[in-house]
Amino acid sequence: MDRGSSQTIVCHLALIFLPFIIHCLPRANLSPIAITDHHNPNEIQLQTYIVHVQEPTSISKLTTERCHEWHKSFLPNATLDSGEPRIIHSYHRAITGFAAKLTPQELVLMRSRDGFILAHSEKPTFLFTTYTPDFLALKHWGSLWPESSHGEGIIIGVIDTGIHPTHPSFDGKSMPDHPIKWRGRCDLPPPANCNNKLIAATAFKGQLKPSPVDKGGHGSVTASISAGNFVHGAQVLGNANGTASGTAPRAHLAIYKAYYNNYGVEGDLLAAIEQAISDGVDILSMSIGQEPKPLYESSVAKGSFSAIRNNIFPCCAVGNFGPVPSILSNDAPWCLSVGAATVDRRIRVTVRLGNGMEMDGESSYQPDTFDSKLMLPLVFPGDRGPPEALNCQTGSLRRSVVSGKIVLCVTDEYENLERSKAVKTAGGAAMILMNRLPDGYTTNADPHSLPASHVSHADGQKIQAYIRTTPNPTATLIFKGTQFGARPTPAVASFSSRGPSLNNGGILKPDVVAPGVNILAAWPTEVGPNKKGNSSSTFNFASGTSMAAPHVSGIAAMLKKLKPEWSPAAIKSAIMTTSYARDRHGNAITDQNGGGNASFFAMGAGHVNPSKAADPGLVYDLQWQDYIPYLCGLGYTNDQVMAVIKDTADCSNIKKIIAEELNYPSIALTLKTGESKTISRTVTNVGETSSKYRLEIEEPNGVHVNVTPESLQFSGLKQMETFSVKLSVKSGPSRKGQVSEGSLTWISEFYVVRSPISISFT
Ligand SMILES: *[C@@H]1O[C@H](CO)[C@@H](O)[C@H](O)[C@H]1NC(C)=O
Ligand SMILES: *[C@@H]1O[C@H](CO)[C@@H](O)[C@H](O)[C@H]1NC(C)=O
Ligand SMILES: *[C@@H]1O[C@H](CO)[C@@H](O)[C@H](O)[C@H]1NC(C)=O
Ligand SMILES: *[C@@H]1O[C@H](CO)[C@@H](O)[C@H](O)[C@H]1NC(C)=O
Repeated sequence: MDRGSSQTIVCHLALIFLPFIIHCLPRANLSPIAITDHHNPNEIQLQTYIVHVQEPTSISKLTTERCHEWHKSFLPNATLDSGEPRIIHSYHRAITGFAAKLTPQELVLMRSRDGFILAHSEKPTFLFTTYTPDFLALKHWGSLWPESSHGEGIIIGVIDTGIHPTHPSFDGKSMPDHPIKWRGRCDLPPPANCNNKLIAATAFKGQLKPSPVDKGGHGSVTASISAGNFVHGAQVLGNANGTASGTAPRAHLAIYKAYYNNYGVEGDLLAAIEQAISDGVDILSMSIGQEPKPLYESSVAKGSFSAIRNNIFPCCAVGNFGPVPSILSNDAPWCLSVGAATVDRRIRVTVRLGNGMEMDGESSYQPDTFDSKLMLPLVFPGDRGPPEALNCQTGSLRRSVVSGKIVLCVTDEYENLERSKAVKTAGGAAMILMNRLPDGYTTNADPHSLPASHVSHADGQKIQAYIRTTPNPTATLIFKGTQFGARPTPAVASFSSRGPSLNNGGILKPDVVAPGVNILAAWPTEVGPNKKGNSSSTFNFASGTSMAAPHVSGIAAMLKKLKPEWSPAAIKSAIMTTSYARDRHGNAITDQNGGGNASFFAMGAGHVNPSKAADPGLVYDLQWQDYIPYLCGLGYTNDQVMAVIKDTADCSNIKKIIAEELNYPSIALTLKTGESKTISRTVTNVGETSSKYRLEIEEPNGVHVNVTPESLQFSGLKQMETFSVKLSVKSGPSRKGQVSEGSLTWISEFYVVRSPISISFT
């Protein structure tokens, strides 16, 4: 998992979803993956394209081979001059079409063929816990765990970097057989093998068949968070010691590797989704994504649409592009889009300055050989040194400056472990790592190679001020191990991607937040400075929306077990309307970027609440056909709609809807001065047979909200009731550019069904 500064490109292009990389912002104009052959001028322009074509109406009877032949018929010829086949993958389930190598001129010719829908060049895609089950209250009486038999019998498909198959999190000894419907395959190299926990493992890389074993760790982390076994004595360098388990510890795992060195391409991602649908997974857990793009060009959006058509629940990370607004991945309304929040556990290292001031930071390497009573000289090489020294980049520190001292370093988008290595190499005694401004209060408990403490930006500024105003500044570190009860909890992580989405018509994203900071999870290799190299049961702390999404995949698995008849949209609605928007102490959930209240663009409906999600009372349901008027309403062409829905569509014959009208569990819209908009929603009763709901409205500042009717009466299950919501801007000073937030809640004797309302004034 090398993400040193020499790998600038890899970082920007590939590592944005990695557990510890949290600040790589997408740079525009990622170059397509061109296969160049300097002997042939034509091949210099060869690119891989994702090509959507219609299938002959009899395709369901077509064999894979004949489907492949049909796809080949679109090409000028089957092989390149080099003899390499042009088609890399043929798809029938994830999309209808193929990935193939073509020149732009060849693509132009193909566009005129009957049955051609659309094509786009292949883009890169990126990767984006003993304690969390306790935190989510899954162990408490009446919770989802016992009720859902811990997700038993449900299959979670994980698309990621593969799996470390011998880790005890993935042992199958105490697991029941996989369901009869299961068709997955196991390509693990012997002596490793699949088992009743790990029921499939395959890898996709062009036409190659590489091993599905995980080298980087990301795939093992996400799989263990969603459905890892109970593992006793799990800990990181002695911290957070306890029993680790996934969110749905009895669910099965099917592993689809499409990421290598933390990077993947759309063709392989679609091939993985294709296989997962074909195998019969119940949940697709995707801690991966792309730069924001229209739904018809997003492989996750298109593959997820096919998933919901097959009654598979797609669960996606929104990315780690925060706190910058509007750079978020996986914002299709049929995906559950998950942001990251903190838990109340800290792996505490307190910094004490020479003037007696103390501030709390984190690190998981806490050697007992460090003498906390001894005050050491404190230096900030970045203050007057070269710019690289600010971030303590490899090779930037002078031994004469740092030797034997505590060194203050500032975070950037690269890995923090590289910084502690650099300090150690230059002879530093310890490191204080402070956040840059956008990193705010989010700190990591990394296994550093020397004594260290990672502190917030605010605390770092105090340390800087002390250094600048003190003739001989000194400091020490005090190791306090694992501590609980941090406040405020939960808080949205500064790195978690934020809305508003610019691609989905304004539907509020993320949908929810879930634990995603310093999550203890299975790791393929030992960590820390003193590796023995013989542990088979290692864990690490990982942070990212990549860690948040598999928590919700596990929750969805348990809901699926409990409510097999629920649609993916119903499961999603249940998770959203039961989430909480207040923290543990009853205050507004805060944002670790700055520490103020988190907006709905940061936390969506709120923080997941699994035991409530199993019994939401009402759901805002949608079938796959309901998205067609929405897609047409986005202004998409018929071809663009067809590329998403994998079916014919004619927008001119469809009553289009604006995105606000989609029967979504949250409400987000834009209003001009003096404007009013009326939208409708339909709820389905999944609670008590006979029930009555009253309305509670929290009006966004500056907006009147009128709901008709103001109460809902149900006399049967599955009964649907429609209500309209009129939102009008109040008179008064212009609020142009502002955002106001409120909520619409249906309340019965047993249930509270809450939808956030976000109004952007334009
Ligand atoms: C395949 O078609 C391309 C373009 O039409 C042509 O340049 C190439 O020579 C053909 N290759 C073979 C092996 O026929
Ligand atoms: C973890 O906790 C268990 C049970 O309390 C204890 O036996 C074990 O020694 C602990 N391990 C570490 C590394 O602290
Ligand atoms: C790991 O290997 C080291 C050195 O070979 C040995 O001293 C130690 O006992 C081993 N630890 C375990 C847990 O096997
Ligand atoms: C934060 O939220 C609380 C509770 O809703 C509210 O009282 C407070 O005014 C909010 N703070 C700001 C700065 O908006």
